[in-house]
Amino acid sequence: MGPVRSELMWQAVVDAVEIAGAGDLLDVLDLGGGTGGDAVRLAQLGHRVTVVDPSPDALASLHRRGVEAGLVDPVRGIQGDAADLLDHVAPGSFDLVVCHGVLEHVDDPAFALSTVATVLRAGGHVSVVVSGRNAAVAARALAGDFVTAQTLLGRSADDWDLRTMGPRRFVPSELEALLVGGGFVPVAANGLRVFADLVPSAIVDTEPGARDALYALERVVRTSPEFSGLSAGLQSIARLDLSPAPPNPGG
Ligand SMILES: C[S@@+](CC[C@H](N)C(=O)[O-])C[C@H]1O[C@@H](n2cnc3c(N)ncnc32)[C@H](O)[C@@H]1O
Repeated sequence: MGPVRSELMWQAVVDAVEIAGAGDLLDVLDLGGGTGGDAVRLAQLGHRVTVVDPSPDALASLHRRGVEAGLVDPVRGIQGDAADLLDHVAPGSFDLVVCHGVLEHVDDPAFALSTVATVLRAGGHVSVVVSGRNAAVAARALAGDFVTAQTLLGRSADDWDLRTMGPRRFVPSELEALLVGGGFVPVAANGLRVFADLVPSAIVDTEPGARDALYALERVVRTSPEFSGLSAGLQSIARLDLSPAPPNPGG
């Protein structure tokens, strides 16, 4: 097993694929897929993978990674972003959209998710991972930066200035509300890295068995609401809602 942190993030992708596909080979869009660490591993499992990312450097790394992995069917890399997604991919063309570590950076997360809904097939799934605000508050407080901790505590994800405050951070209820508002039904919520970012690497790297034990602990606590709200990463896996919209009483 590699570093616990990256293994946990990969396992979050595997969890999404299992829920979305139950063993089938899927058409997967990795939106903001970056250098393609997850995308290439998904392609090695046989899934048909497209990465859309605004960074040409990341896409070049994705290409190199795919070549080194000897992929028979390469990952399709497209320069674009969440806002212009429909200029690059067809509506209704994916079974699963992976959107990990991206909504922190976009100007309008609600618009990004409504676009994601458009490119999914009926019954398709999205997996979203965002940074947890509670974990950031705890990290600031533990570092003695109590003023920033309190500032973060008082902010909500929709009252966030990316330019002055850096990447947006969420609490679980905000992520769930975003997904529901975007036309999704959340089906699983996981807390990623409840402890992994807090444990000194000297312990994990030197204590015999510590890495495996930490990984096992993280996999157990990820579904506990008491702990997942404190995790560095919040994952929600959600299905496109196919139920008809309720009648509009005013119209
Ligand atoms: C923190 S990295 C996450 C990479 C990968 N998804 C992962 O989980 O390891 C954020 C990625 O989002 C991309 N990104 C930034 N703004 C974006 C946008 N508006 N739409 C799509 N992707 C964006 C960046 O280029 C970068 O590759």
